[in-house]
Amino acid sequence: MNTFFQELGNTILERWKRENFSLEKFPELARAALDERPPAKKVKLPALMYDFLLGEDQPAQTDSEFGEPEIVVYSHPRFYIQLLFWMEGTTAIHQHEFSGAFHVLRGSSIHAHYDFDKVKPVTPHIRVGNVRLKEMELLETGRTVPIMSGQQTIHSLFHLDSPSITVVVRTQHDPGTGPQFNYMPPHVGFDPHYSDKLTMRRKQLLDILERTEDAGYVPLLLEMIADLDFERGFSILHHCMGYLQQLNQSEPVLRVFEKKHGALAGGVAATLKEDARRSYIKSLRTTIFEPEHRFFLALLINAPTRDDLFALVGQRFPGESPADVVLRWVGELAEVSEEGLAILDASFPRNSVVEIDAQPALFLRAFQYFMKREKKLPAVMRGLTAADVKDLKAAFAGSALGLLTA
Ligand SMILES: [Fe+2]
Repeated sequence: MNTFFQELGNTILERWKRENFSLEKFPELARAALDERPPAKKVKLPALMYDFLLGEDQPAQTDSEFGEPEIVVYSHPRFYIQLLFWMEGTTAIHQHEFSGAFHVLRGSSIHAHYDFDKVKPVTPHIRVGNVRLKEMELLETGRTVPIMSGQQTIHSLFHLDSPSITVVVRTQHDPGTGPQFNYMPPHVGFDPHYSDKLTMRRKQLLDILERTEDAGYVPLLLEMIADLDFERGFSILHHCMGYLQQLNQSEPVLRVFEKKHGALAGGVAATLKEDARRSYIKSLRTTIFEPEHRFFLALLINAPTRDDLFALVGQRFPGESPADVVLRWVGELAEVSEEGLAILDASFPRNSVVEIDAQPALFLRAFQYFMKREKKLPAVMRGLTAADVKDLKAAFAGSALGLLTA
């Protein structure tokens, strides 16, 4: 048993008991205790790991799959303290059925806070409304943030260093605050732990049709979507969207869903499009390890506009021009492969007549021109036709970098 966390837990227990275990008081109480004796300064990580691996006197562990992994370091029937290790992980946008506080023990993260308003519950498991970014901040080692249960804390974390470690002081469970919805901006909230077993099996059967490239896949799906209720229809649509996009068939299926569900389905196309964009950027975490580039990915996922993104770059790199920092990263991320030149998923237009050797410099200069909203076409682009310029703009607009050139 780690003595630091044993003492921290006992201190919190004593103070909370004096407050009659008030749920409202717990987040602030946990935050204050973490800030008084910050684990980031006090905990010797190698000793903690050594003790956890060899000492038999450990608190009961959970079977939670949150964290990579999660380790419980203090446990009481009313609350517990856990360490969450993150190697590549980033969290979904989520809320909690518990309250307390978390503290960055090691590494740093981009923390995004959301609101969910104009909520229309469809079933107990899915609701539509507006998921809006409220605040985005850089959390450095040593920062502590309170967690409120339910819709008061809707957030996501994108960890910049590997491993990143957070300490969470949390209640066991705050009654009446479930389910722990996840959110898909801009319009959908759903319960990720709810499993409709028939729908789950139907998805698996559709996967078989996908893998066997069955010609009946799209007609069957169109029929299903025309018949299913909103909750199950959305779930199937979400599951199949990647393959439908590959087949260039997402639009007709979305139209059928919209026709079936009217105003309730109004935000679904935008939500699934945004989900595909975020999933793509998240997937890059397994191939991009440079911390500055990971920071850039986190911003591309979460920042609603170019200026929001620049503001956070400015915060992390004071004294440098945010636009110049972004241009440097974009240049470093440019790659030439057999398929041509690409920066993330922005590919140099295939029908271009520009010589291969000249493409990288032109592509980067065009990006700068669009991002900085320059008035005058740069010299290197003056030989291009209006259609070429439009194609270049479209290459960025439809990519993860679209936010910067909008
Ligand atoms: Fe959380």
